[in-house]
Amino acid sequence: MLVDVGDLTCRHLGGSAMCDSYGQALRSAFLASPPIYATTGFADHYRKRARDRSWFASLLVSDCDLEGYSAGQLARYASEVGDERFACGLIAHAADEARHSRIFASLLVGVFPQLEDTALREKLAGMAPRLKSRGYGSTVGFGAVDEGLLSSAILINLHEVKALVLEHLLRPLALAHAPEANRGKIGRQLQVLIEDEVQHIRYSAEYIRHAAASGWDAAITEMMAEYQALMNEVTEQEIETGACDPLVADALS
Ligand SMILES: [Fe+2]
Ligand SMILES: [Fe+2]
Repeated sequence: MLVDVGDLTCRHLGGSAMCDSYGQALRSAFLASPPIYATTGFADHYRKRARDRSWFASLLVSDCDLEGYSAGQLARYASEVGDERFACGLIAHAADEARHSRIFASLLVGVFPQLEDTALREKLAGMAPRLKSRGYGSTVGFGAVDEGLLSSAILINLHEVKALVLEHLLRPLALAHAPEANRGKIGRQLQVLIEDEVQHIRYSAEYIRHAAASGWDAAITEMMAEYQALMNEVTEQEIETGACDPLVADALS
């Protein structure tokens, strides 16, 4: 294993997460289904593919697209959620992911300045909605636990833990491809992404803790283990996919 993801997550959240209800459920799910995205084999494969500039640039384009897409999905979901505190968190999360989409667009041309081109810039700019947030609503209390919401909080949480690990993997590769003059800015942009992912893990973990304190601990342990096993299946399928973006491949070949 490249990294102990449970420990890494709890350290990012502050040491006490290690032994609270959330930290324990997370670590037991990872013990049952060790995250494939944190194995040495996955990292080696990822680094090998990332040596190809077209592949790596296409990955940044697809990150830009995915972040923009999830921003829209989260904003839509927020409008359907009755729990005021969790809805606040979803809106703030959506606004962050829309910003991430724009950061990935900027990273792409920072890492590969030869891609600075109007057609690509317009394509990337259209990938994220413009959203406003009023913060994570941490002064508002959670309402009674809703099973569907708990299930979403767990899925979001596991997804964000994966995003955090993948951004730790991405950072040295982006810096290695980038021209020296752009590395400072790129490093700062990647740090923003990492800090935001930690915030996404934090607000979803808060709902999970709230549910655990309301007697849902057994359900949480079960759902986390089930969703983590599913996430591993999806990650396995993702490893071999990832076609090159034609606009990027042309410019870099
Ligand atoms: Fe993100
Ligand atoms: Fe995120």
